[in-house]
Amino acid sequence: MNQQVVAMTIEEWFTTHRRKLPWRTRRSAWRSLVSEFMLQQTQVSRVVEKFEPFMERFPDPTSLAAADEQEVLIHWQGLGYYRRARNLKRAAEAIVEQFGGRTPLDVEPLMTLPGIGRYTAGAIASIAGKRRVPIVDANVQRVLARLCEDDDEQASKEALDRAWQRAEQLVEACDKPELLNEGMMELGALVCTPGTPACGRCPLASRCASRRSGRQNSIPPPKTTKPRVEVHHHALVIRNRGRLLVEQRGDEGIWAGLWQVPTIESKRKLAPSQVRQRSGLALRELRRAGSFTHVLSHRQIHVHVFEGDLASGRKTGVTRGQWHAGSKLDQLPASNAFRRVIELA
Ligand code: ADE
Repeated sequence: MNQQVVAMTIEEWFTTHRRKLPWRTRRSAWRSLVSEFMLQQTQVSRVVEKFEPFMERFPDPTSLAAADEQEVLIHWQGLGYYRRARNLKRAAEAIVEQFGGRTPLDVEPLMTLPGIGRYTAGAIASIAGKRRVPIVDANVQRVLARLCEDDDEQASKEALDRAWQRAEQLVEACDKPELLNEGMMELGALVCTPGTPACGRCPLASRCASRRSGRQNSIPPPKTTKPRVEVHHHALVIRNRGRLLVEQRGDEGIWAGLWQVPTIESKRKLAPSQVRQRSGLALRELRRAGSFTHVLSHRQIHVHVFEGDLASGRKTGVTRGQWHAGSKLDQLPASNAFRRVIELA
């Protein structure tokens, strides 16, 4: 493959075919860093909705570093995977402390920040900093694998190493690293998609080894995915004079630090009597309010919603959590699953 021709073809195609996305209309290192954090595991369409409101509230690392974590989580709502929001805040703190509040634009300092690996550092350094450094994400890896007819499992270390080498060769040969790198991502997102790629619209179709041999639909080979672990969450909606009992999740695991109603988690679905017993609460009554299944990348959570009334008197069993007015629940950082629990009840 002629690296220079391939690189220039992608750069030209990107210039005329790129989507108008909020982080592309005005560039800065900070905007690039925030958008990359948001895009790590969330669809572009969802990030498009959330990006500008977040930037308005946290226009620079200093404002994010100084903010209360709860407020950051509120602004992150809807994006999921809240660990990223926490890492982003820690990255902002490190930028303030170690780099005088200016987001670095080189791979090495970027990689010292929490939540930033080789891909994210390369994306910020090349796209915002115009540095001549490679990037490989899932889109880029697929484009390169098809182009070179590399039919290895994408998850293999060897396949990933080869993708980084190819990306490096291309970025060395290109004219503008920022156009090449974002262009490869865009080509993967819009044309060279998983499953059946749209080769008819691809600027590289005539140079693609997989297309030449007709194997573009089977490269890369399908991922061998582990089945999702199934768990059951029994959510207790307990009201008292217009207020609702809520508690904050611990620092580890899913939805770390977010708020929820008291929840009993188990491998199996529990009978109401077991839920009542494990809750430790003195419940006068426990009614089923409905159930739904919440699917995450590695887990399938069956959420069973109950409504309960506390026994009157002092021994309610409530030892933790807080009573919150129903009308103020919007102000608590919480998962989408929690919002559904409240809707159901
Ligand atoms: N995913 C990660 N970075 C991106 C970008 N800059 N544009 C579109 N999708 C992306």
